[in-house]
Amino acid sequence: MEEKHRLSENTKDENTTEVKAFFEKWDTYRKAMDNDYAGHLEAYKALGDFLKTNIDKPFAIFDLGCGDADFMAQSLKNTLIQRYEAVDISDNALGLARKNMEHLNCEKHFLPGDFINVIQNHSGPFDVIWVGLSFHHLSLKQKEELLNKCSSLLSKNGYFIIFDPVLYDDETLEGFRKRWWKTCQLYWNALNHEEKLSIKEHVDNSDFPESLAIYRELGKKYSFTEVESIFTDPTEIYQVIYFQKA
Ligand SMILES: C[S@@+](CC[C@H](N)C(=O)[O-])C[C@H]1O[C@@H](n2cnc3c(N)ncnc32)[C@H](O)[C@@H]1O
Repeated sequence: MEEKHRLSENTKDENTTEVKAFFEKWDTYRKAMDNDYAGHLEAYKALGDFLKTNIDKPFAIFDLGCGDADFMAQSLKNTLIQRYEAVDISDNALGLARKNMEHLNCEKHFLPGDFINVIQNHSGPFDVIWVGLSFHHLSLKQKEELLNKCSSLLSKNGYFIIFDPVLYDDETLEGFRKRWWKTCQLYWNALNHEEKLSIKEHVDNSDFPESLAIYRELGKKYSFTEVESIFTDPTEIYQVIYFQKA
């Protein structure tokens, strides 16, 4: 790939043991969600509005790293959802997701495991593939492999959509981590110091976001015609970005 923009330079594959252990302690993450520190409410509202505006036929969605799927259940209300499939490496999260999706009237499947592996054996097709706050855990190589595989699983004009921390175009990973920690210390005040430090440790060890400019280049490489951001949280850390399949 022509390197017009700075890459995260991350060559470390996702440490699924660390990621799994962190999210098995669901309470700290849930506290951050409930206080909307990552913009969950608005991000999932943006997803719901996007689905209602852009999809006018019954559709199938694949939710990679679904967590407890609580916000996703809200986004899918009043849409034309026909099939919901979700995968998570945490059995705890998957159990909560099953419960939160109980009221949704459509075909549902909950798949345990690493989505990198699960997706390899899936034949699709999906109209939408969503990755909420998990894409940035992957190495650049894994991000490319996932984009490539998702491109092949999506129906024509389908959407790969991420909700993720995103670098400014000229920002280094180190600069991003400092910016994130400053934001956390300033605003994430429902968390005690220990909880903040536990999230910081996770960010320092497992978070490798890229910039929108890089996503536009990757989009072109894997047959996506459009790559656009539809939501940025007020702290300018988290965005919802869609990639539309050709
Ligand atoms: C930050 S939470 C996000 C949950 C939800 N998608 C959201 O937007 O709130 C990340 C979730 O992805 C799961 N996860 C991370 N990497 C994964 C992988 N490689 N395979 C499957 N699940 C993964 C974690 O267990 C956790 O439940």
